[in-house]
Amino acid sequence: MIHLNKISRKLLLLQRNELLSNRQKYLRKKFGRYIFTNFLIHYFQKKNLENLTEKLFKNELNTFEKYLPVNVENIVDIGCGLGILHIYINQKYQNQPNFYLLDKNTVDTKIKYGFSENYESYNDLNQTKNILINNGLLNEQIFIKNVDEKISIDKKINLVISLKSMGYHYPIENYIELLRTFCVDETVFIFDVFGAKYSIEKVKENFKEVNIIYEESTAHTLKRLYCKGLNFF
Ligand SMILES: C[S@@+](CC[C@H](N)C(=O)[O-])C[C@H]1O[C@@H](n2cnc3c(N)ncnc32)[C@H](O)[C@@H]1O
Repeated sequence: MIHLNKISRKLLLLQRNELLSNRQKYLRKKFGRYIFTNFLIHYFQKKNLENLTEKLFKNELNTFEKYLPVNVENIVDIGCGLGILHIYINQKYQNQPNFYLLDKNTVDTKIKYGFSENYESYNDLNQTKNILINNGLLNEQIFIKNVDEKISIDKKINLVISLKSMGYHYPIENYIELLRTFCVDETVFIFDVFGAKYSIEKVKENFKEVNIIYEESTAHTLKRLYCKGLNFF
């Protein structure tokens, strides 16, 4: 069973609105997202939220598990949020991988949804590390990177993941130069794109192989992609 403290439960509600019931979504609309998360969080039952969270991220893994490489040494997540997905990825790979987890380290007070060049941030990277350590990962497996600082990763990366972040809230192109520094031809990429912004042809400008493996059609259409062969020209 996953354990989440109060700060991480608040952040999670900002990062993942699928966790809200229709009534809670209504309240959030009425009070605004930031106020809702800060004050109405007290009405959420801790156990309920933890159960829902576990279910949500196990389901996320299910959508792409069959596309994952058999062996993985190094994983990068761009816009990792609280990194909860990696509790389950770590279990799958039996505590073997190193996790390079990239995100901003601030919570913007003006929270909005959508796609923009420089999307809002709502994360606390200390919380990310604490959650993972409290849920089975070892300190030596976790490499936290604040994207507002200069990032370098000196390992070859087998798997790059970005759920509801790169390509979905801000352009893939923001990260292509960085990806070229640590990816190889065999690197597998699993990430979500905002359907109205990215066609397969557009993504193929940067990757040789592009497949849609899952789609969600809400107000903000999501396509989950499995890609290989980052273009290096
Ligand atoms: C919708 S949340 C998704 C979090 C996580 N990937 C998940 O599946 O729960 C979007 C995340 O992207 C982060 N983010 C926003 N702008 C970013 C940027 N330019 N680079 C990296 N991460 C960013 C936010 O701070 C937030 O943690």
